[in-house]
Amino acid sequence: MNSTHGSLLARRRFLTGGLAVGAAALLGAPLHDMACAAATRPSFAGEGQRRADAMPQRRLGALEVSAIGLGCLPMVGYYGGSYAKKDMIALIRRAFDSGVTFFDTAEVYGPYTSEEWVGEALAPVRHQVTIATKFGFGVEEGQPTALNSRPDHIRRAVEGSLRRLRTDHIDLLYQHRVDPKVPMEDVAGTVQDLIREGKVLHFGLSEASARSIRRAHAVQPVSAVQSEYSLLWREPETKIFPTLQELGIGLVPYCPLGRGFLTGAIDEHSRFSTGRLATLPQFTPEALKHNMPLPHLIRAWAERKHCTMSQFAIAWLLAQAPWIAPIPGTTNPAHLDDFLGAAGVSLTAEELQAFEREYARIELMGHRADAFTESQIDK
Ligand SMILES: NC(=O)c1ccc[n+]([C@@H]2O[C@H](COP(=O)([O-])OP(=O)(O)OC[C@H]3O[C@@H](n4cnc5c(N)ncnc54)[C@H](OP(=O)(O)O)[C@@H]3O)[C@@H](O)[C@H]2O)c1
Repeated sequence: MNSTHGSLLARRRFLTGGLAVGAAALLGAPLHDMACAAATRPSFAGEGQRRADAMPQRRLGALEVSAIGLGCLPMVGYYGGSYAKKDMIALIRRAFDSGVTFFDTAEVYGPYTSEEWVGEALAPVRHQVTIATKFGFGVEEGQPTALNSRPDHIRRAVEGSLRRLRTDHIDLLYQHRVDPKVPMEDVAGTVQDLIREGKVLHFGLSEASARSIRRAHAVQPVSAVQSEYSLLWREPETKIFPTLQELGIGLVPYCPLGRGFLTGAIDEHSRFSTGRLATLPQFTPEALKHNMPLPHLIRAWAERKHCTMSQFAIAWLLAQAPWIAPIPGTTNPAHLDDFLGAAGVSLTAEELQAFEREYARIELMGHRADAFTESQIDK
């Protein structure tokens, strides 16, 4: 995508919230841009509405995915709220119609509900999308329990995921958390067997250390590692980037919008007394206040780039390496249209350096995880 087309697309999405061809006409988009809106079928939105070519592709190891995917965790109420199945299915299909072909879920999201909704939403276009899911927690009486990556448990989890996802294969299967009780070689060997059986196409790890990545990759090539990575949490740059680059493995940043903090939707006045954000050190009143220079900086750069804060936060991630494909999450179609506009925002090397100099002056407060979650992260 050239930069003129890119910025037009970004601006149009910013102004209109996204898909409509009519809106493009209203804004006087040039003809080549209009042609872009009438793209590949099938489409959930009706003929000529799919904008597959509005979204660049990225390589994660041996896998090709849309540069921006969709994280399907918030829709099961993870950050609070309760969302209707029909609305979330419509949201997933809206993402597909906007060119997203990379969908992220997990057995424990819900548990099970996210996989069920993803499966139902994408069944009509199954062969055109990449579905990523994860095993690695026990689930008892509807609640996630301890880590469990024993081979028999992996097999049971995969059978359940296949059923809920309405498919005969999982495109990308991640171990959700490294299980210290099960040697990585056994986990990788089990996934390798599942790949040989055709039930899984690609192997991934989530929040794995460089050492675990190497051990897994030596048994079964890893296509992607999923880790928390955003302007609010940059630890992967030092911990795993060199290993990923050396081994040719892709990175899928989760929480790329800092759970909403980088979008401007959360600020020093936000308060979380219940729910997931109430447990996180970055979301205490003190940390929110202390960290406000970061969204202020993002806002200033978004204005400079004529895009939104969410678009800048995602465009910055995409600019870090060609083997990165973030998976922002949302429950809101307007927010989806907003962050997908990041595909049209490009940052030059000079801009990235200038941003980095300003970013370096900011000192962030607060860990990204609560103590229990952190205790389950591979070191
Ligand atoms: N591997 C792991 O251990 C792990 C852990 C966490 C997450 N994940 C995966 O990563 C995905 C992304 O992470 P995440 O969803 O937790 O966090 P995120 O993408 O950083 O942020 C999601 C939050 O940002 C808000 N948001 C999104 N777009 C917005 C916009 N344009 N304007 C304002 N607010 C906006 C959403 O609220 P609205 O609903 O109001 O839009 C939502 O609460 C998840 O969905 C999940 O698939 C994986």
